[in-house]
Parts: sequence; structure tokens; C-alpha cells
Amino acid sequence: MSAAGRKVYLGTNTKMFQTASEASEFISRLRLLTGDISREELTLFVIPSFTSLPSAVAAANGEILIGAQTMGWEDRGQFTGEISPLMLEELGVRFVMIGHSERRHVFHETDREESLRVSCAVRHGFRTLLCIGETAEQKEAGQSRTALAEQLRIGLGQLTPEQAARHLWIAYEPVWAIGVGGVPASADYADEMHAFIKETLCQIFGQPSGSKIPVLYGGSVNPDNAEKLAARANIDGLFIGRSAWDADRFHSIIRSVLPVFQKRG
Ligand code: PGA
Repeated sequence: MSAAGRKVYLGTNTKMFQTASEASEFISRLRLLTGDISREELTLFVIPSFTSLPSAVAAANGEILIGAQTMGWEDRGQFTGEISPLMLEELGVRFVMIGHSERRHVFHETDREESLRVSCAVRHGFRTLLCIGETAEQKEAGQSRTALAEQLRIGLGQLTPEQAARHLWIAYEPVWAIGVGGVPASADYADEMHAFIKETLCQIFGQPSGSKIPVLYGGSVNPDNAEKLAARANIDGLFIGRSAWDADRFHSIIRSVLPVFQKRG
């Protein structure tokens, strides 16, 4: 494939599903299947459990970006159960996801905590993927935009425009669209929210920094809706859960959406 065209971001968070040996097998297979795709046009990433990180980094061999599912906001300290940036760095991990819906809604993390995690990650030079999304109640009450703007303004409140442009990605994952029982957002709705997120990022960071931040869609992406989402102007990538945990299945989604993204130029 040509090196020209837009950069596409495709990846998966494997949540608490794969053991280290399963993650390693999954990543090795994915790497094999996607070996011919230029990494200048595709950033392919996998975010496995902490215990899988060393074997995942080895299996990825630099061709698949490996990230952590969250990270503490201090280098060291009395924070039982947390993992620090120094610990990740030592494993060769320089990418971290912050504020996944399950962290916010199962473990009750707040925007303020996400902001501490994001600024610590960026301070350490990590590529940082902040997840945001409104709940079903907020959507029904017509509060989606307010909720998203608040998550962005608080979560990113400590970053400079230069840091944001250099290190930050956003994943828009409506809470009602995620996981078993989730209803995928329509391509129209997702695109509308992405446009709003991009506009808000430009308000927070100004131009050109705000418009350099990739915004990925996640929440029940599957083989049936992936191409429709990829065709939308404001969607820079797809962040996939269940439909990506089988390497062959993920690979066929990758092959189907890449030309759709590329066609947008
Ligand atoms: P899903 O998960 O694709 O299984 O809905 C998405 C996510 O939680 O990031």
C-alpha cells in the first residue's frame, strides 16, 4: 500500500480478558496478518492487561503500539494497586489509555483524577489516549455536548497546546454504546459528536494544535458498521473491543476500513 494519504488509527483494548500468553499469541498473529501494511498510514495498537505488557511488547516487535489500560499520577508512592509511569517506561511502554468508561463507571474515577493521570502521562512523554463519552441519561436529557465538553475541559485542563498536539489522542466512546448490550452509535451521530469534540479541542488549545489531535470512535464497532464509521469526515480511527479480540476478525475489519479511510484523502 502507498505511504501517501491520511494516517489511520485502529486499535483494541482487551480489557480483563486475555492472559499474558493469550495476548502474546493474539499480537503475534495480528502482526503477521498486517505485516504488509505501511505503518506510515496505519497506527495499529493493542492495550492489554498490565501483566501482559512485557510479552506484548516482545510480540509486537515495534510494529504494533502497545499501551497500558491506565496509570497512576505519581512516579512512586503509597498508591497500592496503581502502576507508575516509571514502571511502564522500564517495560518499553510509552502509550497509555486514561479514563476508559469502565474506569469511570465501574471504578468511579472522576474527571479530576483523569486530569492528574493525563498530565502525568504527558509530562513523561507518553502518547495519551483520553476516553470520553456521555451516558444514556445524559443523551436523553440533551446533555451530550455539555458532558463531553466538561470531560475535555477538566481532563485536559493542565496541558499546553504543544503537549496536546504532540501527545494526545481522544476516544469518543458513548457509555451506552460500549460492551455487551451496547447499542452502536449511528455513523451520523458519531460524526456529529466528533465534530463537536474537534471544535471543543480547538477552543481549548487553539489552532493549529487543536486540530492535530486524532479523535477515534469506540463502542460496539463491528464488521457491519466499521466501514460506515470510517467513511465519516470527523472520525480519525476506530477503537474496538469485542470484535477485535480474534486476530483474524480484527484483521478483516482493518482490511475493510483502510481503503474507506484512504478514499477520504
Ligand atoms: P466494544 O468495546 O467494542 O466491545 O463495545 C469498546 C470499548 O470498551 O472500548
